[in-house]
Amino acid sequence: METIAGFSKLSKSEKIQWLSRQVENNPDEFLDVTRFWLKNSDEQKVFDEFSENTITNYYFPYGIAPNFLINGKIYCIPMVIEESSVVAAASKSANFWLSRGGFKAEVISTTKVGQVHFEWFGKKRKLKEYFEAQLPKIWEALEPLCVNMKKRGGGVKDVTLVDMTQSLENYYQIKVTFETCDAMGANFINTILEEISNILKKDIDATQLNVIMSILSNYTPECLARVWVDCPIEDLADPAHQMSAEDFANKFLKAVQIANVDVSRAVTHNKGILNGIDSVVLATGNDFRAVEACAHAYAARDGQYRSLTSAKIENNHFVFSLEIPLSLGTVGGLTTLHPLAKLSLNLLQNPNAEELMLMTASVGLAQNFAAIRSLITTGIQKGHMRMHLLNILKQMQANRSEIESAKNYFSDKTVSFTSVRNFLNSMKITQ
Ligand code: MEV
Repeated sequence: METIAGFSKLSKSEKIQWLSRQVENNPDEFLDVTRFWLKNSDEQKVFDEFSENTITNYYFPYGIAPNFLINGKIYCIPMVIEESSVVAAASKSANFWLSRGGFKAEVISTTKVGQVHFEWFGKKRKLKEYFEAQLPKIWEALEPLCVNMKKRGGGVKDVTLVDMTQSLENYYQIKVTFETCDAMGANFINTILEEISNILKKDIDATQLNVIMSILSNYTPECLARVWVDCPIEDLADPAHQMSAEDFANKFLKAVQIANVDVSRAVTHNKGILNGIDSVVLATGNDFRAVEACAHAYAARDGQYRSLTSAKIENNHFVFSLEIPLSLGTVGGLTTLHPLAKLSLNLLQNPNAEELMLMTASVGLAQNFAAIRSLITTGIQKGHMRMHLLNILKQMQANRSEIESAKNYFSDKTVSFTSVRNFLNSMKITQ
């Protein structure tokens, strides 16, 4: 492969041409990436401008999980995810809880955080005095930057000095807490932090203070949602379980306890929750990397990585809950620019950020319920493999009648690439 200077200056077609000369296999197929462009060039331009050096679009399925009863209201939830079975699992869970009171959810807190990280080489007392003297100036300088956010009920909540020298020599922070209302708030937070950093650097001997960086924190343990489902144990009776309601409840409880004490299981367990969470976060144009990073840090908040969900049985009553930090926005950023994010928010009845937190958390809990239910009853492969079978058949270019025969044949058999190939070959021989 060649190196290139000024790749970003090439037009989209020139970029594709250049790239096709770099690939050894199927350059023509590569030239054909234009087939994924949107027909409407204005709409395509919107996508091109989300990022840099874009040459085409990468499609993901956009599915819907209907019948989500959350705090007494019904929602159809949009989910963007490529993994088969996730939307089906969420829908199944939503249906299961629909007749059992649905999902109950609350926002516990909505505070976000940012930090100015700096070194101070002078006496601690002097820094404290200097910070206290600067504080009124900081609040005054932030005033004009907060006008719009204040109008919406948000703004800067607190500015504090944190001594971090026990962890790292000469290291301190200015920790700022924010309320960003319906915006995820990254731009607002970073602007405020940089302003504070500029004020800090003013009127001070530069040899004493060294600002390292100013940036929001994606760890938002105080932007927290809680969602739960509950019912008398006997309501868990479900013919699909192939076990008594009581056995089901006890085994379910054990499965959650295992994820609470064993990190290997906890990661997979939480991954399942995030299958649901990420797909809603993506569908609504939010930042799934931020949500993921934060969720995992939160899962390890007491020093051990644990399950994000918990389950209990009290007086024959089953309660299953999820507590998860979710920094989401319903205004600004991609939420207003991406046509499908807008569509998703519309489908969700144009929620505010807190309502979106509740819906997203509910899908996470639904997903975990479905996964555990499969794992402790039929096993996960049954449902997965039904979808997997279709994918394999598509890859092997099976026709309609072969697909129908394969679905029947594999209804009680193990699906693998080899077994499907053998089945298709045997069909061809007998035809
Ligand atoms: C698969 O994407 C997710 C599961 O593995 C989650 C779990 O094991 O709980 C099914």
